[in-house]
Amino acid sequence: MRLQNQVALITGAGSGIGRESALLFAAEGASVVAADINLAAAEETAAAIRAAGGQALAVKADVSQAADCAAMVAAAEKEYGKLTVLFNNAGISHADDDDSIATTEDVWDLTFAINVKGVFLGCKYGVPALRRAGGGSIINTASFVAIVGAATPQLAYTSSKGAVLSMTRELACIHARENIRVNALCPGPLRTELLMKYLNTEEKKQRRLVHIPMGRFGEAAEIAKAALYLASSESSFVTGSEFLVDGGITAAYTTPL
Ligand SMILES: NC(=O)c1ccc[n+]([C@@H]2O[C@H](COP(=O)([O-])OP(=O)(O)OC[C@H]3O[C@@H](n4cnc5c(N)ncnc54)[C@H](O)[C@@H]3O)[C@@H](O)[C@H]2O)c1
Repeated sequence: MRLQNQVALITGAGSGIGRESALLFAAEGASVVAADINLAAAEETAAAIRAAGGQALAVKADVSQAADCAAMVAAAEKEYGKLTVLFNNAGISHADDDDSIATTEDVWDLTFAINVKGVFLGCKYGVPALRRAGGGSIINTASFVAIVGAATPQLAYTSSKGAVLSMTRELACIHARENIRVNALCPGPLRTELLMKYLNTEEKKQRRLVHIPMGRFGEAAEIAKAALYLASSESSFVTGSEFLVDGGITAAYTTPL
């Protein structure tokens, strides 16, 4: 068991990467706090974990709200006695996110409130808990677009993920001597709800697939395996990294033709 005696708090645990990670972390021995703005979805994740013999608690949390972030961390410590893995994974990609001209301030602000402030607030309340536990691992979900930009305009999303990446680097430096590792997980395009609701025709899917050397979308379960590595002590000398799990899309964009 790679996460024996660990307590993991995962945001956005009701769907996609968060759900798959919650299931995998629990199967590897972690007690899991599944946090999501959608409590019913978080409850489903927690129920699936418990049905498989694992330990899980569902909490409703909007990561853009300080009180919710404080409460989800408190719930982990109250229920399981400590927090050792914080996976700041919740994020949105707004349907009206576009280029600099078309993107509204509301879309920009909402995207930053969840994707960037949500990670900040997770750390604001999570880091003290990790300190109390003697250290741990923080994983922040960024994206490959933090590194290469997206060919289809989604300026708020891309900028927010760039912020997550830079925030992660500084957090890693600041907390390295406290036995707290902080890494950014940068997934490529995945076959999850978040992306598939936009790539909703075969033509749109093919337009994206053409850029992915592997010729397919990633699965949330494949990202969960990378998150497990970053959560576990197998990655004990890894901090401040931009951990790309992207089917080669970033290499394809950055390798000269
Ligand atoms: N799907 C992709 O192609 C892709 C690629 C790179 C990065 N990512 C990132 O991975 C993360 C997870 O994405 P996913 O594909 O699993 O998405 P998803 O839409 O399947 O799941 C996201 C979950 O976050 C929850 N959520 C949304 N707003 C929230 C809030 N304010 N507070 C708490 N929970 C909230 C949703 O209810 C949902 O359960 C996101 O940060 C996303 O930006 C996704």
